[in-house]
This record gives sequence, C-alpha cells and structure tokens, in this order.
Amino acid sequence: MTTSLPLLLLLSLLLLLLSPSSQSSDLTNLTRPVSRAHAELTTYGFPIGLLPADVRAYSINATSGDFYVDLHGPCRLTLPPDNYLATYSEKITGKIVRGRIAKLEGIRVRAFFRWWSITGIKSSGENLVFEVGGVSAKYPSNNFDEIPACGGGKRASS
Ligand SMILES: *[C@@H]1O[C@H](CO)[C@@H](O)[C@H](O)[C@H]1NC(C)=O
Ligand SMILES: *[C@@H]1O[C@H](CO)[C@@H](O)[C@H](O)[C@H]1NC(C)=O
Repeated sequence: MTTSLPLLLLLSLLLLLLSPSSQSSDLTNLTRPVSRAHAELTTYGFPIGLLPADVRAYSINATSGDFYVDLHGPCRLTLPPDNYLATYSEKITGKIVRGRIAKLEGIRVRAFFRWWSITGIKSSGENLVFEVGGVSAKYPSNNFDEIPACGGGKRASS
C-alpha cells in the first residue's frame, strides 16, 4: 500500500499533465495566419510553393489528415516549370499524410486545350508527382520553393 499510493499519485499527475496538451493539439485553430498553412505543408514533406500567398484560413485534422484551405478568392496563376495555367478555387480540400495528398479538390491545370483537376500530389522530397486523372507528371520539388502570387502568375523575379 505504501508503494502503490505514490505510484497512483504519479499516474494521475501524469494524466493531468498529458490530457490538456493532447487535447489542444487536436483542436486545430481555424484562423491561423498565412505562414502557418505553408509551414504545415513542409511538415508533411511538401514545398511551400504549392499554395498561393493569400490563404485566409485553413484546418487540418491531424488524425485523419482531412484538410481545407480557404483563399481570399479564386486564384489564377502559372505553375512552374512548364508555365501551365492553373486555377485554385476559393476552397481547396483533400487528405494529407506525409508525402501524399489525396482526394484533392479545387486545383485545376490547363493542358492540351482543356482543364484538368489535380486529384493528388506525391512528394518524394526531391520530386513532386501530380496526379491528373489516371495520368501523372513528375517535377523537381525545387520548382516550388517560392510562394506564388495570384493574378496571371506574375512574379517579381523571373
Ligand atoms: C486562433 O489563433 C489566433 C491567433 O493566434 C487567436 O487569436 C485565436 O484566439 C485562436 N482561436 C482559437 C479558437 O483558438
Ligand atoms: C478527425 O478525424 C478522426 C478520424 O477520422 C475523427 O474521429 C475525428 O472526429 C476528427 N476530428 C474532427 C475535429 O473533425
């Protein structure tokens, strides 16, 4: 009894210490500033250049990986390195785990005279693989090291 009581106390103390922190990490703040959404991309192994600058809000369920990103409005830009015209909807949704974005909705590219939805993106670190329907295209990740600006893809440098 004399040894089990301190152990019990220790355990309940641990529980007290652990429960608030594990709870707060589950609650994703919906109004984080821009840089946080981009920083979050990098923690999942993706470059920041996949998201335009004008993020209004975002949320990720750390358990399931379901996420959404709200922009200030629809966004049109050109994707490097081949300068494909791309559009981002005001709301982008998907499911993200390390190195893989699936069920992506809200990003489309113009190629071969029509618009295609990018449905998934894989990252190996060095390369990004964009999935467009059954087809995929691979590009070096370092093409996406800069956060693109909306509006026809005008960039300060290049
Ligand atoms: C979200 O973060 C902002 C800025 O850090 C803070 O002002 C706000 O209270 C937070 N909201 C919630 C629901 O935690
Ligand atoms: C996050 O995802 C898990 C697993 O799908 C689910 O049980 C939980 O309710 C989700 N949390 C929120 C806040 O939606």
